Amino acid sequence: MEKEKRSSFSGRVGFVLAAAGSAVGLGNIWRFPYLAAKYGGGIFLLVYIVLAVTFGFALMVAEIAIGRKTGKSAIEAYGMLNKKFSFLGWLSSVVPMIILPYYCVIGGWVIKYLVTFATGEGPAAAGDSYFSGFIGQTGQPVLWLTVYIAITAVIVMLGVEKGIEKASRFMMPVLVILSIVIAVYCVCMPGALEGVKYYLMPDFSKFSVTTVLAALGQLFYSMSLAMGIMITYGSYMKKDVDLEKSVHQIEIFDTGFALLAGLMIVPSVFVFSGGDESQLQAGAGLMFQMLPKVFNTMWMGGVVGAVFFLLVLFAALTSSISLMETVVSILQDKLHWNRKVTCLVVAVGSLAIGIPSSLGYGVWSGVQILGLSILDFFDFISNSVLMPIVAFLTCIFVGYFVKTKVICDEVKLSSPFHGEKLFVVIIKYVAPICIVAILVSSVLNGLGIVVI
Ligand code: PHE
Repeated sequence: MEKEKRSSFSGRVGFVLAAAGSAVGLGNIWRFPYLAAKYGGGIFLLVYIVLAVTFGFALMVAEIAIGRKTGKSAIEAYGMLNKKFSFLGWLSSVVPMIILPYYCVIGGWVIKYLVTFATGEGPAAAGDSYFSGFIGQTGQPVLWLTVYIAITAVIVMLGVEKGIEKASRFMMPVLVILSIVIAVYCVCMPGALEGVKYYLMPDFSKFSVTTVLAALGQLFYSMSLAMGIMITYGSYMKKDVDLEKSVHQIEIFDTGFALLAGLMIVPSVFVFSGGDESQLQAGAGLMFQMLPKVFNTMWMGGVVGAVFFLLVLFAALTSSISLMETVVSILQDKLHWNRKVTCLVVAVGSLAIGIPSSLGYGVWSGVQILGLSILDFFDFISNSVLMPIVAFLTCIFVGYFVKTKVICDEVKLSSPFHGEKLFVVIIKYVAPICIVAILVSSVLNGLGIVVI
């Protein structure tokens, strides 16, 4: 099978760009800013950065090294290193299956906004009820969801990901530059300063275990961790590529871009809500509610908006392609279906699961699971439940079964491992203990027993 001649990335730059293409997506632009707004601004940022340089670093090193060592994707890699952990391969494979459908719902919203701006309707999108009017409908959001899934599926089906990756090598830097321009513009708007303070200065009274859990889930989501994806990427990495340096570069890029996105969106809440800070709690719709208002005040805002949403669409597509690829290859490996059929099944399945998430903002808004809308529920199950569990088990697996030495030796094949001590301490002790503590206390909090 294709496994015999596993192709590999040409070098560090190729690897970093491909992994960053998967990592940078709606997680950074859509999810990070609304969580930062919701969970106290600066304190969320601080917790996130601390987690990124500790947990994020250690887990990403572990996953990529597992992949490179075994040359397999997650579903086989865990079991290959230790039979007892085959189940972890399966468990981590469930995560992308849950994320893909609702990721496409948000991707559909991006297309809708792209079309809106491209057809000169941008000013309408700046209206207060435009977003709720849109997602409250039945047909439109489902139509855009279908379009988004179709684009992703066709790319995966035709195997033209490489083309998209090439295009995104040009699009991504442009997106970064445009985002810097928009962020600077936002920060200079009258009234934005208070928002910048909220976003950057930690208010320790807002610290809670929910903040930590939210930041942890976001970290996994944004860096494509705890779902086996980095194991697959690692399996394509050449032995002489500097693994630690690659991880640092992916981390810096991914986190830097998330911070930038927050700077575009969070201060705008303070500018446009006229002192009504409840907007900070807007959740999943925040980016779509705020950015059109920003563009509306800008010179050539309609064009800027259209270009921005086009670039975001590219960033989202490289991520959803990587998600769909993963799901397709798992099914293909296990069920031996042909690739086209598998793609079709995954696309239809994603549509079927995505539609309820979409309708949860409209006709099915009465349906609440654990007090959450359908989309938020899927998001919660994957990010706040499954991923922490997978991350915990990966730490136990690496720390006590495979042993950290094996992973460190794999890293050292290419270069000295500067962060070795940090890695070992985090994987063996800090991460497992903290993850359990966070999960337990958030369950207790959920039950009304307040811990922090
Ligand atoms: N990391 C991606 C983002 O930030 C989401 C993603 C998760 C993509 C898992 C692929 C795999 O948008």
